[in-house]
Amino acid sequence: GRIVVLISGSGSNLQALLDAQHTDEGLEGEIVAVMSNRAQAYGLERARQAGVATQILDHTQYASREAFDQALIHAIDTYQADLVVLAGFMRILTPQFVLHYYGRLLNIHPSLLPKYQGLHTHQRALDAGDSEHGASVHFVTEELDGGPVILQARVAIEAQDDAHTLAQRVLEQEHVIYPIAVRWFMQGRLQLLAQVPCLDGQAL
Ligand code: GRF
Repeated sequence: GRIVVLISGSGSNLQALLDAQHTDEGLEGEIVAVMSNRAQAYGLERARQAGVATQILDHTQYASREAFDQALIHAIDTYQADLVVLAGFMRILTPQFVLHYYGRLLNIHPSLLPKYQGLHTHQRALDAGDSEHGASVHFVTEELDGGPVILQARVAIEAQDDAHTLAQRVLEQEHVIYPIAVRWFMQGRLQLLAQVPCLDGQAL
């Protein structure tokens, strides 16, 4: 299967996926393109070094969020992606984008969802006095960081941790679980069932 990865920054999760392609198990799919909304994203260099096509779509060059997302859809579909992987992609996607890739759009979020949707998850876990934290791979739906969780990694919070040390340990686990979840998708073992709103078990 053909995988397109969207990034905005360092691309360490992208690197984990690129590296996973060359393990015995592989990804059972090929990363055919890496796209970034930021020209300075180091992840673009990681893609170039891996010989993977790159594309920059600078969101500041588009009149609206919808216009940017439509351009992104066109770019991704040019590569005929079977799976779109958000890896440190720091953009909120429109419902149109989410629906276009519904069931074949994954994200990784640095928390034990459904806890700590949104930003600054590590500091929030520390402030709450949690004993553990972690990362979640999930299907992307219209609810920000709200889609069904596929795989999680748990990390113990240590007494001496600050947001930086905790984020580092969580990131290491992200690099473990993302390739596993992507491989499961490529093996046809994951399916996002339509989320039909229902009341007392009756579909509305
Ligand atoms: C990290 O905070 C990670 O938890 C989240 O996106 C950020 C950057 O990741 N998924 P990456 O190094 O660009 O993959």
